[in-house]
Amino acid sequence: MKPYFITLEGVEGAGKSTQMKRISGWLAAQGHTVVESREPGGTHISEMIRDVVLHGDHPEMSAHTELMLIFAARAQHVHELIRPALDAGKTVLCDRFTDASYAYQGGGRGIPERDIATLEQMAQGDLRPDLTLLLDLPAKEGLARADGRGSEDRFETESLAFLDRARRAYLARAAGDPSRYVVIDAARSVTRVWRDIQDALEQRLK
Ligand SMILES: Nc1ncnc2c1ncn2[C@@H]1O[C@H](COP(=O)(O)OP(=O)(O)O)[C@@H](O)[C@H]1O
Ligand SMILES: [Mg+2]
Repeated sequence: MKPYFITLEGVEGAGKSTQMKRISGWLAAQGHTVVESREPGGTHISEMIRDVVLHGDHPEMSAHTELMLIFAARAQHVHELIRPALDAGKTVLCDRFTDASYAYQGGGRGIPERDIATLEQMAQGDLRPDLTLLLDLPAKEGLARADGRGSEDRFETESLAFLDRARRAYLARAAGDPSRYVVIDAARSVTRVWRDIQDALEQRLK
């Protein structure tokens, strides 16, 4: 069975974590051996970097420091987990990947796309997801949902304008490559969102 590299994207509160288990269950039922992971993180080193990026109390961190830390975490994740899993015939399902860097560090913080693309090439070579499910939700609704979840990270405390730029950057990327992305309207119920995700999986992973 052909292994796939599938990523889930969307602003805070869009429902990525909520839908992960359903997606991995569906993939397993199709006969895939599924490896679930997340970014930043996924390996020991990458999770330590995650902690610095998301949970440290350091407002002084520069946008470039943040970007390079996230790509350092990603380089290790690709090297240690994603590539070996795909090489072994496993399907990798990842909660966020490089599109999040284009959305948050690009759209959100204003780092030029070409700089992100340079790091992308360094960390991943030609590895790109086969399918990216973009759970699209207005930033305001996402924040309201995430508020109910408790424990804020450095991005959840960003301004609404920042998260709205991230959302728009995500949508622009999806519009630029419809063969890789499926945009899901995440403003509806968990069950309705799941139904659309399942339709997308059935259509795209033939
Ligand atoms: N479709 C939905 N409608 C309403 N609430 C949702 C929906 N999907 C998720 N939630 C809730 O919103 C919060 C954030 O969801 P979560 O899956 O953690 O988002 P993410 O991982 O994308 O940040 C959780 O409390 C979750 O139960
Ligand atoms: Mg989550």
